Formats: sequence, structure tokens, C-alpha cells
Amino acid sequence: MSQLTPLIAGNWKMNGNKSLISEFTQVFNSQAIDGIDVLICPPSVYIESLSQQVINNNSVINVGAQNVSEQMSGAFTGEISVDMLNEVNATFVIVGHSERRAIFGETPELVAEKYKMALDNNITPILCSGETDQEREDDKTFDVIATDIDAVVNLTGIESFKNGVIAYEPVWAIGTGKSATPEQAQAVHHFIRSHLAKYDAEVAQGVRILYGGSVNEKNAAELFKQNDINGALVGGASLVSDKFMTICQNAQSSL
Ligand code: 13P
Repeated sequence: MSQLTPLIAGNWKMNGNKSLISEFTQVFNSQAIDGIDVLICPPSVYIESLSQQVINNNSVINVGAQNVSEQMSGAFTGEISVDMLNEVNATFVIVGHSERRAIFGETPELVAEKYKMALDNNITPILCSGETDQEREDDKTFDVIATDIDAVVNLTGIESFKNGVIAYEPVWAIGTGKSATPEQAQAVHHFIRSHLAKYDAEVAQGVRILYGGSVNEKNAAELFKQNDINGALVGGASLVSDKFMTICQNAQSSL
């Protein structure tokens, strides 16, 4: 891990409830963990509850969303706008998670619009990108990631990565228990930084690149030893407070 402040983010996906939110905000209080950024992205109906509990329990947890509309407002049934996220004090949003790309048909261009919409409205976007098993076999990993990054650069410029985060999430590692090895992850993270450096070396050095895909309390420490891994985007293990705490402590010890 380089000197950037690690970000440990939990993506609860369609899991969790109010009592889990209460538990997390109590466990992650300001005495429990410092020196790193901790983020929870619960289902959108719970964002406000999380924001409130963070205040009530003096918690260090940052509040995020799992998705946002590329539109400002209007007739878009089921969608959630940046204004709404701002009103419930969400400061981060995940965009382009592979589940949204695969199940909901989000394209690199649409994801870039969401990224821009978040950034333009003071919400930090976390751009997810990663290859499927087949794409890895076909040696397409770097192409897939370059396409997702270039869509953002084309729409909103390389400067937009000054205030954004990137998450490398190989699809074959998500929810499978089969994490990328630290070396596999580092190779892709290094590619991401070098790709950004082709546009702007300073921006490339400053961007936090998270690894996601079966991160747990046992494999996190080794992942965090890698130079270009600046934290994690955690699914399953972010639903269990002591596992998530161990991952956060591992990030702390890597500093
Ligand atoms: P798992 O940690 O459950 O593999 O999920 C990773 C993920 O998709 C986080 O966004």
C-alpha cells in the first residue's frame, strides 16, 4: 500500500437492515479505528438511517450509495438522484458495479455519465471495472479496464480522477470465495495507474485504487502489502462487523 489514505468500503448489495446499521455504527466508533477511511454503502432506503446513526454513535463510517441516476430529476421510476443522495448526506457512490453492468445493462458510456453526475454534485464516485473469466482467458483484462476508464476520460477529462476512486473487481472473484492473488491484483492495479499516467502522471499517483472480489479477514493483509492497492471494496465480509473490522485493522497496520 502506498502513502494514500486507505479506503475500506463495504458494498452491502441487497442485504442488511436497520439493526445491522445500528451495530456497525456502534462498533466503528471513533475510538475503534482511525487513520483510514471506512465506508458503508447500504441499500438506498437505509442511507438516511445510516447517516443518522453515524451522528448518534459518533461513528467514523462514511456514508455511500450503490448507484445513482445519470439524470437530475423527472420521470425515471425507481431511480435515485444526486440531490437525493446529498440530502441524506451520502458522500460516496459506487458506479458501474459489474452486477449493474451485467444484470442491468449499464454500458461504459452510461457509467461515465453517472460518474460525472456524482462528481459535479460533490459526491465521490467509485468507478468499478473488471474482467470476466472468459475475458481473462482471452487476455482481454487490460482492454476491458482501459475501455471503462477511457469512457470517463472522454466524457469528463483525466482531472476527474483527482476526486474519484477506482475499484478493480474481477467478475470471477466476486462472491466466489476465489480472490485474485495479491500478485494478480497488483498487476492489474499497476496497469490502471500506468494507463492513467499516459494522460497525467500526477493524477495517476494520487488516485486510490481498491481491490474487490472475495476480500476477507484472512486474505486482506497480503493484498494490502501490494504497492498499488489502496484499500478494498468488500461484499460478503462487509456484512459481518468483526470480519469487516479485521479488514480495516489490516489496512491500518499496512500504513
Ligand atoms: P464479495 O466480497 O462478496 O466477493 O463482493 C465483492 C463486491 O462485489 C464488492 O462490490
